[in-house]
Amino acid sequence: MIKLENVDKYYNYHMDTEVHALKNVNLTINDGEMVAIMGVSGSGKSTMLHILGCLDSQTKGKYFLGEYEVCKYSSNTIAEIRNEEIGFVLQNFGLLSDKSVYENISYPLIFNPAVKYKMMKRLITKAAEDMLVSDFLKKPVKELSGGQKQRVALARAIVNRPNIILADEPTAALDKNTANDIMNVLINLNKNGKTVVIVTHDRSVAEKCNRIIELSDGEIISDKENIPA
Ligand SMILES: Nc1ncnc2c1ncn2[C@@H]1O[C@H](COP(=O)(O)OP(=O)(O)O)[C@@H](O)[C@H]1O
Ligand SMILES: [Mg+2]
Repeated sequence: MIKLENVDKYYNYHMDTEVHALKNVNLTINDGEMVAIMGVSGSGKSTMLHILGCLDSQTKGKYFLGEYEVCKYSSNTIAEIRNEEIGFVLQNFGLLSDKSVYENISYPLIFNPAVKYKMMKRLITKAAEDMLVSDFLKKPVKELSGGQKQRVALARAIVNRPNIILADEPTAALDKNTANDIMNVLINLNKNGKTVVIVTHDRSVAEKCNRIIELSDGEIISDKENIPA
């Protein structure tokens, strides 16, 4: 379970350039949900997803990830929690384009001391198989198509077998067919028990989720159940 309680996020707090990016956000996401977060550019979607992914922290309020109240822990412990619990698909893939597919998928494991070399190889191979990118393991990412890149980004997100997948605009850089294909991958991960949270400004992507949350100027203005067509 993910829970935000009275969360405010300011950038450049108390400075002339202060931005109030999230305003008193209250939100609970239960295990196994498939949620879309919608809103125009600048409405706070990425900010919210980064807080949920422990990539950034709120200015005020509380964030609970399962039994952990995230801000109570040291940054090392938070990094460990994130590594175990969360797979993140960054906006614009967030891959290292000169590095191979194999290396890109391996990154979350490098920071996981519990995973030994042999195990690492097995996990990378499995994630690549699940995402249908086994054939390109040795290729540099820059030689792949957009859809293949997103599959590599997804393989990297699932390699640690996290319970939660957070994806920031996962279809924005893709053509319609490829976007559909990637959405089906995310839907399947959700059917296999993962909690999936997708940031999107594309209504047709959001309509495939079971819940649609709309942000406007840092506030949740709507939060509705959705039955995919
Ligand atoms: N690192 C940052 N420093 C200052 N302002 C930021 C930063 N990141 C985002 N913002 C501002 O916070 C607001 C919300 O941004 P963001 O969460 O990226 O929106 P979205 O993902 O919905 O486009 C915007 O006004 C944006 O300019
Ligand atoms: Mg964004």
